[in-house]
Amino acid sequence: MEKYPAIEVIDLKKSFGDNEVLKGVNLTIYKGETVVVLGRSGCGKSVLLRHMIGLMKPDSGKIMVDGVDVTKLKHDDLYEMRKKFGMLFQGAALFDSMSVGENVGLGLMEHTDLSMEEVREIVCRKLELVGLSQMDDLKPAELSGGMKKRVGLARAIAMDPPVILYDEPTTGLDPIMADVINELIRTLQNSLDITSVAVTHDMTSACKIGDRLALLFDGRIVFQGTPDDIRSTEDELVKQFIEGRAHGPIGVHER
Ligand SMILES: Nc1ncnc2c1ncn2[C@@H]1O[C@H](COP(=O)(O)OP(=O)(O)O)[C@@H](O)[C@H]1O
Ligand SMILES: [Mg+2]
Repeated sequence: MEKYPAIEVIDLKKSFGDNEVLKGVNLTIYKGETVVVLGRSGCGKSVLLRHMIGLMKPDSGKIMVDGVDVTKLKHDDLYEMRKKFGMLFQGAALFDSMSVGENVGLGLMEHTDLSMEEVREIVCRKLELVGLSQMDDLKPAELSGGMKKRVGLARAIAMDPPVILYDEPTTGLDPIMADVINELIRTLQNSLDITSVAVTHDMTSACKIGDRLALLFDGRIVFQGTPDDIRSTEDELVKQFIEGRAHGPIGVHER
């Protein structure tokens, strides 16, 4: 089957002051696949995702989505482009003052002309998909961490976006709940045929949800391959990362 690029990150560079975070990231994500970007805490995974939806501007480089460089978009065009993306933010980022239903329906209210009734209908269906039927009247404060992630997921898929970005979908969850979320992500991918990019430092989750994995290290993608490729590699740096060893080519320094 022929592969079509959905997102192309080309030589993306971003520094904050003298902190060079992205030093030339190159990564192509093809339509219909799930790519997981792995990397240590603080290596720039969230920064990379934020660039993909235009929340951050790079110092140089570009990100092509359907033939358009999203890093150059402004105002209305940026707003239009974001409709293609569902995003599950790190920590779910729900609005505490709004109910679960309002959180999930927010994008639909803002970006579509659907009636309240139609929005409510879609919200119910999406909550059902993530196993949270009848929870729409609850407030985020009444939910567990795993439930919040699922609400975040329902919100990410509310508009049936062709692309979903996941920032640390399983971080902070116990292993069982993490697996529930992994399964859910897989099910969504199979049923909706979407393109997904996830970033995480959780190797188990990455292998479970990713068709391909990419390791972000020292500002660049240093390895790409299938979960099997990454597990069988002789590359010392990749091995150190997946085995979680303190000693090896990856330094242990924190910025
Ligand atoms: N808005 C910002 N201003 C300054 N520095 C930032 C900003 N966002 C991220 N950084 C820095 O960029 C680096 C990568 O951060 P981040 O992408 O959040 O890492 P992670 O891989 O854990 O998601 C960190 O050193 C962080 O301090
Ligand atoms: Mg992050």
